[in-house]
Amino acid sequence: MKTQVCIIGAGPAGLLLGHLLKAEGVDCVVLEQRDPDYVLGRIRAGVLENITVSLMERLGLDARLKAEGLPEDGFNLADGERLIRIPIRELTGQQVWVYGQTEITKDLMDAAPERGLEVIYEAEGVALHDVDSDAPYVTYTKDGAQQRVDCRFIAGCDGYHGPSRQAVPASVGQVFERVYPFGWLGILADVPPCNHELIYANHERGFALASMRSHTRSRYYVDVALTEKLEDWPDERLWDELAIRLGPDAAANMTRGPAIEKSIAPLRSFVFTPMRHGSLLLCGDAAHIVPPTGAKGLNLAASDVHYASAALVAYFKGGDADAVAGYSAKALARVWQCERFSWQLTKLMHRFPEDGPFERAMQVAELDYIAGSRAAQLVIAENYVGLPV
Ligand code: FAD
Ligand code: DHB
Repeated sequence: MKTQVCIIGAGPAGLLLGHLLKAEGVDCVVLEQRDPDYVLGRIRAGVLENITVSLMERLGLDARLKAEGLPEDGFNLADGERLIRIPIRELTGQQVWVYGQTEITKDLMDAAPERGLEVIYEAEGVALHDVDSDAPYVTYTKDGAQQRVDCRFIAGCDGYHGPSRQAVPASVGQVFERVYPFGWLGILADVPPCNHELIYANHERGFALASMRSHTRSRYYVDVALTEKLEDWPDERLWDELAIRLGPDAAANMTRGPAIEKSIAPLRSFVFTPMRHGSLLLCGDAAHIVPPTGAKGLNLAASDVHYASAALVAYFKGGDADAVAGYSAKALARVWQCERFSWQLTKLMHRFPEDGPFERAMQVAELDYIAGSRAAQLVIAENYVGLPV
């Protein structure tokens, strides 16, 4: 097969990029190692920034998002019994949308056939070749038969564990990383949310987050040591812990129910540079990971795709080779800002095992400052709704 752009990975980054390129008449194909149900079964992000919503709007795929998603005007930081509201709409004029990553992925998946976007699922053993050249190619196996895709560019949208990043020579690539000493234990349940706005809580027993997917479906998290096992967290224990950490008001409004999904995700900050090497462009988790505290992972994948699609369209439609050369620097400028915000909010809202009374006093002082300063709230709000692309 011959195409202009071979996209590896059909998560949100790969599918968004595929649709954006197709809409501009750039030929592409998406290779995904899993089957569609597996991809849709992964419960991940829940909060969409403007950039993600605007890309869905540009594609004309925002109808369900607007009908079923929940626009949010603010969110809350809880510290013991205190609730500090960050009025994001009042401060920035912008909102965020509660709409699950699963739903975005489903909307993009469902629209692929009618828009002629070819997505090849269950592509095994995907391997990248000659990324240094102007004629790279990708090989994979489908139904036992070896296949080859010749292309001008490869877009590595294959997440943290995919093969694309490994195709950049070690002499060129640089890794920046911080691994955190805890993970988030998440529960999804068909119960009404305890609050109409998100609550991020820093309690002496640890972090908790009250989030939602709809008026009838809730998503909650607590942080746990990396040594903890899912089987040690039956639903009742998790609900009890959430009730303590989120504080009495949230606890009083919390409806318990059986878990539809429960999982532990480790926290990591990770950046790989450059995000382009030769004919390979990396987008999303393939190039960077943020701890989930700022709700940035999926949205950062969307902003990468915004820059990557613009560069590829400029190359194929405008003959502008410099646009692709400039992709890494443009994308990384925003990546570093999101890394900074996610890291700061993680430090503010979690109890680190190595921290002592001084570090805790600094958290309290910072939360006091945020509670009393519109300027401090604006800083948080403008980062939370998403910095401009
Ligand atoms: P992915 O969604 O990882 O998609 C990559 C795709 O590439 C996958 O479909 C994968 O199967 C495919 N792939 C991998 N290897 C190959 C291969 N060899 N060949 C072909 N295809 C391949 N962010 C938030 O904002 N909030 C959250 O609550 C949150 N929770 C998360 C929980 C977990 C467990 C994880 C891992 C991430 C979470 N994130 C969260 C981050 C967010 O989900 C990601 O940033 C987002 O999914 C990035 O999208 P992506 O398309 O870059 O990568
Ligand atoms: C959700 C996840 C996040 O990481 C976050 O910061 C807010 C909400 C969620 O899954 O709903």
